[in-house]
Amino acid sequence: METSAKKVLVKTYGCQMNVYDSARMGEVLAPLGYAATAAPEEADLIILNTCHIREKAAEKVYSELGKLRRLKDERKSQGGELLIAVAGCVAQAEGEEIVRRAKAVDLVFGPQTYHRLPALLARRAETGATVVEADFPAEEKFESLGRGTGPVRGVTAFLTIQEGCDKFCTFCVVPYTRGAEFSRPPAQIEAEARRLAGQGVRELTLLGQNVNAWHGDGGMGLAGLVARLSSIPGIERLRYMTSHPRDMDGALIEAHAENPKLMPFLHLPVQSGSDRVLKAMNRDHTTTDYLKLIARIRAARPDMALSGDFIVGFPGETDADFRDTLAVVEEVGYASAFSFKYSPRPGTPAAERKVQVPEEVKLARLLELQALIARQQSDFNRACVGKSLPVLVEKPGRRPGQLSGRSPYLQAVHLDGPEGLIGRVVETQIDGVGTNSLSGHYRTAA
Ligand code: 5AD
Ligand code: SF4
Repeated sequence: METSAKKVLVKTYGCQMNVYDSARMGEVLAPLGYAATAAPEEADLIILNTCHIREKAAEKVYSELGKLRRLKDERKSQGGELLIAVAGCVAQAEGEEIVRRAKAVDLVFGPQTYHRLPALLARRAETGATVVEADFPAEEKFESLGRGTGPVRGVTAFLTIQEGCDKFCTFCVVPYTRGAEFSRPPAQIEAEARRLAGQGVRELTLLGQNVNAWHGDGGMGLAGLVARLSSIPGIERLRYMTSHPRDMDGALIEAHAENPKLMPFLHLPVQSGSDRVLKAMNRDHTTTDYLKLIARIRAARPDMALSGDFIVGFPGETDADFRDTLAVVEEVGYASAFSFKYSPRPGTPAAERKVQVPEEVKLARLLELQALIARQQSDFNRACVGKSLPVLVEKPGRRPGQLSGRSPYLQAVHLDGPEGLIGRVVETQIDGVGTNSLSGHYRTAA
C-alpha cells in the first residue's frame, strides 16, 4: 500500500448527506496516505461531491470543472499530476456525459461507491483512462464504512442511517441518483454513534432522504432507534432529517412527548399547500392530512418548531394553488423553511409536462413566499427573547470570550462564557435577537 504524503481536497455541494459522505471519503483515503487540504494548489486529488437536485446546483459543477482544468494543465506543465474526481448525485445522474463535457475529469463515481475509492484510484493509475463507476451497492458501502476510524472534531455530528427513496415525487431526482430506500442495520448505527460519543460528540443528527422511513428488524421504527441511541452515555441530543409526512408514525410522535433528548425541531416538508399540486407531485397526502398531522405533533410537543421545504411554480401551478400554499404557511407558522423555484430535472415525470410556469411568475411567487417565511422566522426568534433556553455550546464565537451554540429549536445562540463550557448544555437567558441568531448570557451549566 502506498503511504507517501499526498493531499486531497473534497469540495461539498448540496445537502447534509453530502457533508457526511465527504467526511467518509476522507477516511477512506487516509490509509492511502492522503491528508486533507483546503488549498487547491496543494492538492494531488480534488473531489467534487456534487448535487443534482436543481439545475443551478448541477451547473455549478461544470463551471468549477472549467477552473480545475486550468489548474490541472498548469500542474502538468510543471511535471506534476492533479487528479480530478466528480462524485455524488451529478456523477450518478450524468456518468459518461461528464467525461464528454469535461475532459479533465479522471474519476466519476456515484454516492454509493466511494468506499471503492482505493480500487478506483488503482484502476486509474494502471490504465491511465477515465474511470466511471455507477453501481448502487448501498449495503456493501455501509458495511465497509461501518469500520470508519476517522477522528471527529466538534460536539455535533451527522450520522447517515437511511439512504435513497422509493417515493418518486414527480419533480425529484433522488430516487434515480441515490437509489432505492435502504436502512442501515441498527447495530451498525449504534456502533458509529458510540464511537462518536466517545470522541466528544454530544448531539447527533440522523440523516436520510426519508429518514422517518428507517426501519430495523422486527418492525423497529425510527422511534425505537432514537430510544436506543439516547441511552448511549454522552449523547445529550438527537435530531433527524428529512422526514416525509406519510412516514410520521404514532410512535415517533409519542417519542417527541416522552424523550427529552429528542429535540423539538422537525423538518417536515409539504412542498405545496394545494391538493391539486400535491396530487400531481405524487406526494400521496392532502393538505388536510398534513395539517392534522401537525396538530397531532403539536399536541404531543406543544413547543415543536417546524421547518419545511416548498416548491413554487410546479408545472400547472395556478395563482390560486400558490395562494393555497401561502395559506398553509400562515396556518402552520414555521420557525424556518426553505423555498425553491421548480427546476425541471431530466428524466423526472414533471419535467415532461407541457404546462411549465414562466420564470418571472416563479420568481414573483418565490419572493412573496420567502418574505412570509422570513417574517415567521423573525417572529419565532423574537418570541424567544426573555426566555431561558438550554443551549448546547459548540465552539468559540467570533469575538474573544464569546461562545456559540444551538437552542433546542436549532437557532444559533451567541453567549459570553469560558471555553470550558464547550460540549455542555447551559441554561441561557435570551436577551437579544439578530438576523439569524439569538444572543444571551448563561445562568447555569448542566
Ligand atoms: N425543483 C425545485 N426544488 C426541488 N426540490 C427537489 N427537487 C426539486 C426540483 N426539481 C426541493 C424539494 C426538496 C428539497 C430538498 O429540494 O423541496 O424537499
Ligand atoms: Fe425526492 Fe420525494 Fe423522495 Fe423526498 S420523498 S427524496 S422529494 S422523491
